[in-house]
Amino acid sequence: MELTAYQQEMLDGVWGKGKSMAMQVLVGIGKCFDAPRLVPITRAHVSLSAQEADLWFSGKLLAAGASCAVPPTVNPGYSLDYFGGQISEAAVENMRQVDRTYRQLGARMTYSCTPYLGDNVPKFGEIVAFSETNATIFVNSVLGARTNRESAASALCAAVTGFTPEYGMLLEKNRFATVAVEVQATLRSDFDYAVLGLMGKKIGKGVPAFLGLPRDISTEALIALGTQLNVSGSFDLFHIPGVTAEVRDMQDAFGGREPQRRVVITDEDLAKALEAFSPSPSGSIEYCILGCPHYTFSQLEEVAGLLAQKASRIPIYILTSSTVKARARECGLEQHLLERGAQLIPDTCVDEACCWGYLAGRPGVTDSPKGAYYMETSGIQLAVRDRSTCIRWAQNGRVC
Ligand code: F3S
Repeated sequence: MELTAYQQEMLDGVWGKGKSMAMQVLVGIGKCFDAPRLVPITRAHVSLSAQEADLWFSGKLLAAGASCAVPPTVNPGYSLDYFGGQISEAAVENMRQVDRTYRQLGARMTYSCTPYLGDNVPKFGEIVAFSETNATIFVNSVLGARTNRESAASALCAAVTGFTPEYGMLLEKNRFATVAVEVQATLRSDFDYAVLGLMGKKIGKGVPAFLGLPRDISTEALIALGTQLNVSGSFDLFHIPGVTAEVRDMQDAFGGREPQRRVVITDEDLAKALEAFSPSPSGSIEYCILGCPHYTFSQLEEVAGLLAQKASRIPIYILTSSTVKARARECGLEQHLLERGAQLIPDTCVDEACCWGYLAGRPGVTDSPKGAYYMETSGIQLAVRDRSTCIRWAQNGRVC
């Protein structure tokens, strides 16, 4: 790999041990992918997880004197304001340590998994280093920025050095669609797009271009589609001609080439995919978790509308960013939700066993296949249904 004089100096430790460590990681990744060089980034997002490996790696960089050349935004961990009194002292100290470490590295402590909605919004064509499965695919596809599917560690190393290896999604030639996905199903809500995202196995490897979808797809639906594509497969990028940033039509999407594969998705496929992922439950429901990825303001408004006539009988936990929670508080929406049984939890991820472990073995419901997938690793079994069904079950405290 060819390095500039400055990059070579960083690798050799002239600019400190921390930058040298980060460079070693990036050069190693670059060699694995045959990247010819490192290119500058202008933004980064680190999928901080507040878990052991995350703190080990970020702490090692900090101890070696690293600081971020490009201050990254960070993913949620868990809110000590909300969970502080309910979790162990060790878990409290862990989150404090994570916060201190990333702060000292120079990160922007946004604690949101949807940074592209306000805190950190890449422009078309901008080269960035984003980790977090829903964020990577959104900025690549919907915004037309360029990032590989970074890990928390590689995104942090890119933030420390200001560079990333040039390969994969950074190269024009890899960004054309290879699979034509003809959607014959009718999609009505963002949840339907999430279920479409569960078709990863049927779509197979490559860059899908979805054909037959309407032009007026909501931001939330695009988030849901990308997020769940990464639950059912490992997708860096998707195209929807006339909707996502890079493609106006089939010609743009496939670069004039024939699709390698054609796939048709019907209503029956979606119904089967949902039933396979989350078979119809019965009986009581004790809680509802929404907001994986973090809910937008519009999604909060929708929940408030669904709860307007009847409050929930069980707790509804809604994960969102501090920014959205503050807006909801200012305009009275948070209070409205609270009075109907829904609490807004900021800065928190579903994948934090120390916070959610007490729900193991108790029946709950969510509108997020990704959330259910992660929570299952902590022994928490969630039924997955669309938002209005989640709220209806919550209002009745049972499947109905
Ligand atoms: Fe966000 Fe955690 Fe879900 S980072 S997307 S709430 S798994």
